[in-house]
Amino acid sequence: MKILVTGAGGFLGAAAVRALVARGDQVIALDTQLGAFGPDDAAPGLTLVPGDITDMANVAQAMVTHRPDAVLHCAAIVGVLSSLGSPINVVRVNVEGSLNVFESMRLAGVTRCIHISSEETYGAFQADRIDETHPQNPVMPYGICKVAVEHLGRTYRDLHGLEVINLRTSWVYGPGLPRNRIPKNLVDAALAGRELHVPWGADTAIDHTYVDDAVSAMLCALDRDAFAHDAYHVASGTSATVREIVEIVKSLVPGAKLTVGDGPLRFNDGLVMVRKGALDVTRAGKEWGWHPKHDMRSGLAAYVAALRAR
Ligand SMILES: NC(=O)c1ccc[n+]([C@@H]2O[C@H](COP(=O)([O-])OP(=O)(O)OC[C@H]3O[C@@H](n4cnc5c(N)ncnc54)[C@H](O)[C@@H]3O)[C@@H](O)[C@H]2O)c1
Repeated sequence: MKILVTGAGGFLGAAAVRALVARGDQVIALDTQLGAFGPDDAAPGLTLVPGDITDMANVAQAMVTHRPDAVLHCAAIVGVLSSLGSPINVVRVNVEGSLNVFESMRLAGVTRCIHISSEETYGAFQADRIDETHPQNPVMPYGICKVAVEHLGRTYRDLHGLEVINLRTSWVYGPGLPRNRIPKNLVDAALAGRELHVPWGADTAIDHTYVDDAVSAMLCALDRDAFAHDAYHVASGTSATVREIVEIVKSLVPGAKLTVGDGPLRFNDGLVMVRKGALDVTRAGKEWGWHPKHDMRSGLAAYVAALRAR
């Protein structure tokens, strides 16, 4: 297959590009930042295309020139905090940029897009475990933009025959994660022998997805002939509290000096996070036969092992 990957230079995009190239697919890797790819990545199947999804001419040219079989749409400004810091830019990149991707697909006659959406589209979870039918009431610009893109995808499906499939993933972690995250911060501190106290959040339970599982789901979705739904959870299917994550990391890195304070998890500036929980992955399991390999413990073990191997 020939796949155009937007956001190809990012955490998930680059991991997906490498997996696609490794299995022999042709990949058009589009991003404003392609520094993730070095000489070791050079392969006949990989074409790097510096491009900005907010620039319609850039995206349309890439789409018309390469006419991929499918688009894996990962480009975005990512995260709740980033979206609070620059909401206008988030609307421009995440919504307007996605619209440029859909519009370019329409012009080039490309129909399938796998869009990486998020559990942030739900806002506060109404239960400890939710499935894809849970109401979407996002509370932050990031989640609101993701819902907008999901709906725009449906409009392009109804008006122009596009097939936009939304993979709603949870907090993805693993080697290469560029942002502060609970598991990354804890694992980095533990391996460096640094003390770390996370000031709050001990009892907050979150579904964390190991990067390899996210990538295997993206490939699985790209390989499917048809979909019964347009949204699927891609997650571990389990949730772990921050207290449990601390204990797991301490068991993986003996001597690690990690502690966590009580109360709900807050973002860096003190903003309280809405209720989270586990994402039910039954739909992808039943329809595609995709199952996550990692729960929190085995994912953290894989993460620590990968960092130690470096
Ligand atoms: N990582 C997670 O925990 C997570 C969870 C849920 C959903 N997602 C979604 O998965 C996708 C990938 O996330 P990630 O973790 O790899 O993030 P990332 O920040 O590592 O990668 C995003 C990439 O998009 C690129 N990009 C940003 N603006 C662009 C533009 N205007 N034109 C072209 N490229 C642009 C960036 O340069 C970056 O390489 C995003 O859509 C994100 O919302 C990620």
